[in-house]
Amino acid sequence: MTNSRYTAAIEAMLERIDSTAKQTDGTFPHYGDIESGEWTTTADGNWTGGFWGGLAALGFAASGDKRLAHLADDITAQILPRQNSDTAFRGFLFWYGAAVNHLVTGSDDAAQTALAGAHGLLTSFNDRAGIIPLGAEAEEAEAVGEGAANIDAVPGTVALLSWASAHTGDPRFLDAAIRHAQRHIELCIRTDGSVCQSARFDTSNGALLDRYTHKGMNADSTWGRAQAWAMVAYAQAAQWASPSFLPTAVRLAEWWLDRTPNGGVVSWDFDAGTGPDVPIDTSATAIAAAALLKLDRLVPERTDFRDRAVAHVEALLDHLTPTGPHDSRPAGILMDGCFDKRRDFATRNELIWGDYFLLECLINLNNRSDTLKL
Ligand code: GLY
Repeated sequence: MTNSRYTAAIEAMLERIDSTAKQTDGTFPHYGDIESGEWTTTADGNWTGGFWGGLAALGFAASGDKRLAHLADDITAQILPRQNSDTAFRGFLFWYGAAVNHLVTGSDDAAQTALAGAHGLLTSFNDRAGIIPLGAEAEEAEAVGEGAANIDAVPGTVALLSWASAHTGDPRFLDAAIRHAQRHIELCIRTDGSVCQSARFDTSNGALLDRYTHKGMNADSTWGRAQAWAMVAYAQAAQWASPSFLPTAVRLAEWWLDRTPNGGVVSWDFDAGTGPDVPIDTSATAIAAAALLKLDRLVPERTDFRDRAVAHVEALLDHLTPTGPHDSRPAGILMDGCFDKRRDFATRNELIWGDYFLLECLINLNNRSDTLKL
């Protein structure tokens, strides 16, 4: 059954895809101004550009408008040159920017680009340590290289490698996916089910050396997106790589649910407190809601995952333009995403991945019989 609030939000987000396409023309939207709607773009996609391709593909899923399938293909083609970039965030680029396009629209070109990205990631796999390291070109990371790991290198990456294995019949992709996911449990997930973003490891065997963070408050705090990325990553791992990851996905989600009893938008870091001077992060909440909807599908006997995802989405819709009849801003902006509070960088902005996950949630909530299995 459809819901009129969700239908209106989807319409607004489709308008936003149009207004974004008019502005970006061959570049990738990165973060946007919430008053003017103006995007800051990147030429090569940085780590965020794949979400623009995924968003266009979701737009096609929501509307059936073939122009959006063509747009998704154009964006996917722009991602291809990144196949050998030395960054683990190619998982974001090639899953959301290419494989999602293929899975949603059926594009064969997108499947080929997704496979190119999977091959690139496989080349970076450290077999002794059982992990794809962050890499020397990892975006926005201070300590990068062969002995560094980030939880945000698991979402997309594990799904992409697992999909590539199924698509080609080559078991090396799945083996790398499973070992990469398993190693990050040891490196980044604490015993209480919370997540630390980053870790250093011994490159000869993958053993944990120490934990730290690039974007959270400190090594002992829980950055909102660290937890949210882990939730979506292990829900994807359970679906695409092995059901043995399901208990981890559930444990991560339970930690989140214990700390968001009312389902509102979270602060940028769970240890930052709340209040008018503490930025919230709509993108973290959107990622988590998408993860909860994946878990709803994977663990149908649990009704709370869907209920809490709905509460998060309802809260997010209060941050989507237009917020009332007199709001003259471009429609479909998901406001109040916090890119990087540590550096005071784009702390109250539209974020392209926040848009992606909100639209994924809205489509799935409005169309339960034909859920996107992404
Ligand atoms: N690098 C992923 C993030 O900032 O969320």
